[in-house]
Amino acid sequence: MNNHKHPAVQAWTFIDERGSFRLEEPQRTSYLYFPLANEAGMMSAITPQLHGDIKTGQNSFLMTPVSAEDLHNTRSARNFWLYVEGYGPWSVTGNSARQLADRFGNEQERATLEAGFLWHKLLRELPKLGLVAQVINFVPAHAATVELMKVTVSNRGDRPLRFTPTAALPIYGRSADNLRDHRHVTSLLHRIAVTEHGVVVRPTFCFDERGHQLNHLSYSVLGSDGQGRPPCGFFPIVPEFIGEGGSLDWPEAVVRNLPPAHAAGARLGGYEAIGALRFAEQILQPGESQSYLLVLAIGDDSADSATLMQRYGSETAFDAYLAENQKFWENKLERLTFTNGDPNFGPWMRWVGLQPILRRIYGCSFLPHHDYGRGGRGWRDLWQDCLALLLQNPGEVRSLLLNNFAGVRIDGSNATIIGAAPGEFIADRNNICRVWMDHGAWPFLTTQLYIDQSGDLRFLLAEQSYFQDAQIYRSRRRDPLWQPEDGSRLRREDGRIYTGTVLEHLLIQNLTQFYNVGAHHAIRLEGADWNDALDMAAERGESVAFTAFYAANLLQLSEMVETLEERLGLDEVELAAELLLLLKLGPDPADYDSVSGKQALLDEYFAACRHRISGRKIRVRTRQLAANLRQKADWLFHWLRDHEWIENREGYQWFNGYYDNDGQRVEGDHPAGVRMTLTGQVFPIMGGIATPEQIVRIVAAVDRYLQDPVQKGYRLITDFGGVQTNLGRGFGFAYGHKENGAMFSHMAVMYANALYQRGFIREGYTVLHSIYGLCNDFATSRIYPGVPEYIDGNGRGMYHYLTGAASWLLLTMLTEVFGVKGRLGDLLLQPKLVREQFDAMGNASVTAHFAGKKVRVFYHNPKLLDYGQYRIQKVAIQASPAAPAISGDHAVIPRDLLENLPQDDCRLVVELG
Ligand code: G1P
Repeated sequence: MNNHKHPAVQAWTFIDERGSFRLEEPQRTSYLYFPLANEAGMMSAITPQLHGDIKTGQNSFLMTPVSAEDLHNTRSARNFWLYVEGYGPWSVTGNSARQLADRFGNEQERATLEAGFLWHKLLRELPKLGLVAQVINFVPAHAATVELMKVTVSNRGDRPLRFTPTAALPIYGRSADNLRDHRHVTSLLHRIAVTEHGVVVRPTFCFDERGHQLNHLSYSVLGSDGQGRPPCGFFPIVPEFIGEGGSLDWPEAVVRNLPPAHAAGARLGGYEAIGALRFAEQILQPGESQSYLLVLAIGDDSADSATLMQRYGSETAFDAYLAENQKFWENKLERLTFTNGDPNFGPWMRWVGLQPILRRIYGCSFLPHHDYGRGGRGWRDLWQDCLALLLQNPGEVRSLLLNNFAGVRIDGSNATIIGAAPGEFIADRNNICRVWMDHGAWPFLTTQLYIDQSGDLRFLLAEQSYFQDAQIYRSRRRDPLWQPEDGSRLRREDGRIYTGTVLEHLLIQNLTQFYNVGAHHAIRLEGADWNDALDMAAERGESVAFTAFYAANLLQLSEMVETLEERLGLDEVELAAELLLLLKLGPDPADYDSVSGKQALLDEYFAACRHRISGRKIRVRTRQLAANLRQKADWLFHWLRDHEWIENREGYQWFNGYYDNDGQRVEGDHPAGVRMTLTGQVFPIMGGIATPEQIVRIVAAVDRYLQDPVQKGYRLITDFGGVQTNLGRGFGFAYGHKENGAMFSHMAVMYANALYQRGFIREGYTVLHSIYGLCNDFATSRIYPGVPEYIDGNGRGMYHYLTGAASWLLLTMLTEVFGVKGRLGDLLLQPKLVREQFDAMGNASVTAHFAGKKVRVFYHNPKLLDYGQYRIQKVAIQASPAAPAISGDHAVIPRDLLENLPQDDCRLVVELG
């Protein structure tokens, strides 16, 4: 593909320190979209031409659902027309056929976009007439499912302007499923009421042939002018608005400036609806402006137009809600901020900080690039988004984590359908028996971060139930005895709900996997691992990559169990009796060298807890438990180092990450070219399996085979040369895209994180810097500030906003690069900043929340020394005489010292030299 960069493209620039940015001529970039949302579940996407959609879920779209490819067809965009005397129709959003035709030359107009947390402002100017329009959109942060829009038209010319305004927003008003399925029939369900202020569509049914439901949702487009005056008439249905032969970008009602078709009080039905609101003709003298307000709402029966307009239908209300909205998001994002020598870095990181919040709202489905497109979030995303939440809002997290554990099944797998309420997991009735082998690994990582940040070791002893449905034996079998009426919580033999500690849940997740191995002692790949696209090797495939993750978990679990004894004096823990099978604590430890022995043991455990669990508890000595876990971890560490370390013909060495469905090793030399995965390297490094010497070799191999020679990004995988039916769908994607060889941000950030954790700072920095560079090169990446899911072979940022990469980037920046992290509740400062990350005066700083305090850490490196050259010389805690213990590259500040500081805002000044 032609990698031509548009000569006229200017990058966005930040216009303040808080992350607001400006982009000139935004319509010259395709696929741009911006999120507008709130925690009440209103989810909008908006493009520079105000295309996009507005919805609260899969079944409730106010505007027609769009995917990225629909965005160039701007016809069904939010529109606002002026019929200007002496000129004709003009769309303030640039969506008239005339403006679109003008786009590649002779452009008569100028457009500028500004956006911030979380608002979107478009400025469009027609210099010939001195006509300027500003359009602001946002979704108020409080609990309402509305999007607000204000259009301000100004006369900057020297002659009076006479125009007739018409707002035009097509109302789709139904489920995304009906985009093709019964598209026309579902418009017959529409009941369209014209109220004093606008058009309200309330379909009779939610159309679903499996069982139609009476519909209680209304979709409204309401408006008034800045003085609160209602529209003077309406064109509520598409055919009347566009006219025979017309279109939404050249509608007859506007082009011929027709009088309104209907007045308030009209009732129509059975047509595609449109919120086409005609306002009274207006004359603007030079220097004058006129505003119009639009309220776009999805609501139940209680949300009538009059109430909505009372609340939102004035300029004062709009401005107040906008200010409140900005404050709301800024407060949220103020909680974790970074400053270094690059003025763009801090604001850019704020956008990254927004992203995990966006994924909690939108899931992975509701922006124009979407993965599983029907709503909901996956298990691993749920846990990884908690990483960011833990850093941004630690107070909220304990109960959230505890709730999440209710999704774990007793066989170590977990529920995959996650309900809207915290801790709500839904039994799968569609008979999709898939298990992702990595799922059991993430909860420990998140729990560990929680315990380190909070010191709340007792969390491990909190009790939670287990999830149950018809799937048993990690979904290899179905439980004939389970009925939906039994509910989705595991019961004991006596019929009562069974509960176990968080520690027990974690042990089950990690121990079952120790035994769940394929022919090479690596854990079975099952439905896939983190890489969803490795989904065609369920029988014989193995993920060595995640075996390394589980191995590290077993080791760290063992350390955590020891800590339970050291800190809480617990010399015993209570566990389900069935766990003895997995621990094999007696004098006859399991024969770890036998694959079939391990598989048989796992089956024995599955059989013991199918359908119900005894409910019997045993007490296990913590020391014995810790030793047992360590023994298993050690076995895996050695096995992986001895059997999965490979060398190819060119003399490069790295870890094999996978076995395919033929039981063949995946990585190494191959007639079609060298095969290597980044995932296969990340977890052995992160988990401590790779020795320092091995890491040096891995870095060389990654640079040789995975680093893009032009873009410098780190690809997820080398080119396997085509479809791999024995491994997964990902190889069906063209090389360079998504899981097949793109720079997949999530894994690249985890690679950097692993390198930092193991002390390879310059190497980790190079990776992070490459990601930052790729995202911020707007002429190529064509995305707004933030980190996208991946950068494609051409350098374009894809699937912007909704990616686990954002949580990991926040985590890595805070806890590794800036080195501000919890250690069993105390605060550890261990900066790993390289010289380039300080400003000219040697300063870099971070603001975070810890121990209930706002903690601001200022690093001062006056000699601009590089990492490795500096040591911590002194740590001063503002308003406290305490001098924290320093040991070379780190300092520890006891939690109670922070907690007992009189002020909530705590400055720590760290001298490096
Ligand atoms: C997406 C999915 C994630 C999956 C990954 C790789 O990544 O959301 O669950 O592990 O693809 O297949 P993300 O968008 O989080 O970067």
